[in-house]
Amino acid sequence: MKRLDFKNKWVLITGASSGLGHEMALQLAHQHKANLIISARRKDKLEQLKTELEQTGIQVKIIVADLSVPEDVELLIKDSIEKQPLYAAILNAGITYFGSHSEMKPSEFQRLLQTNVTSIVRITSQLVNHFEATGKEGGLMVVSSMAALFPVPYQAIYSGTKAFIMNFFNALSFELKNTNFSLTVYAPGGIATEMTQGEKFNDLKGWLMPVEQAAKEGIYALTTRKYNYIPGFMNRVGSRLMKLLSKKFIIGQMAKTYRKSLKQSGH
Ligand SMILES: NC(=O)c1ccc[n+]([C@@H]2O[C@H](COP(=O)([O-])OP(=O)(O)OC[C@H]3O[C@@H](n4cnc5c(N)ncnc54)[C@H](OP(=O)(O)O)[C@@H]3O)[C@@H](O)[C@H]2O)c1
Repeated sequence: MKRLDFKNKWVLITGASSGLGHEMALQLAHQHKANLIISARRKDKLEQLKTELEQTGIQVKIIVADLSVPEDVELLIKDSIEKQPLYAAILNAGITYFGSHSEMKPSEFQRLLQTNVTSIVRITSQLVNHFEATGKEGGLMVVSSMAALFPVPYQAIYSGTKAFIMNFFNALSFELKNTNFSLTVYAPGGIATEMTQGEKFNDLKGWLMPVEQAAKEGIYALTTRKYNYIPGFMNRVGSRLMKLLSKKFIIGQMAKTYRKSLKQSGH
């Protein structure tokens, strides 16, 4: 399958107001000259980013949308498909809950599920239908996590959502009829972003990947239409080696590390 070429093409990025999405937007503009549709809830951050991106000579549109709200999800889909020819999309927006599962409120669970799973399924279904109907060239990438492969204690619901979207994409890939269109799962380990900024993550900060590298490898995965892609040589080797060990043992070790980090931050 031909590599994707983003020059002068429209690419949607959700969660573009910070972290990985923000950095991928910068790199897609500077290095790939893509036109961008940037989406998130924080309008001020999106407007700042738009101004910065436009200085590279590309076109930028903003969609302010809360992906935990079904009406906003529908608006995002409509505006992405109908207002310009969409070439690619990066479903990056996501949230976590780091703490004891027993302390998670039902409302937090609902919001996490809506943002990380329900909105992804709805947007993916509609974008896949669009590309299947038009037969156009393009690609869709979802940002999952290594937590989909090795579920993380104290982020149990988060790990579940990331495994859901990985399995959903991996299975759906084989239902596609449009041979010019691809689905990619991007599964990073820890990245230094707003998500991992809090003191609860203090003990884990040593192994976080710089966001610039995570963004660069994410764009590479989408461009080359990878099926599943883990960024970072050590993460890739580590994930293979870990498959040789007992999953129960590995997750038990992770539980100790995360418990310590939570305790040291007073939780
Ligand atoms: N950081 C890590 O260690 C790590 C590791 C593996 C995978 N990931 C995944 O990478 C993706 C990006 O996360 P990040 O690390 O870059 O974190 P981040 O800096 O917190 O960025 C999350 C982005 O998602 C947006 N977002 C959150 N809730 C939203 C909602 N309800 N509706 C619309 N947008 C929403 C946020 O924008 P607003 O607040 O403006 O809405 C923000 O732009 C996530 O899917 C995450 O699970 C992260």
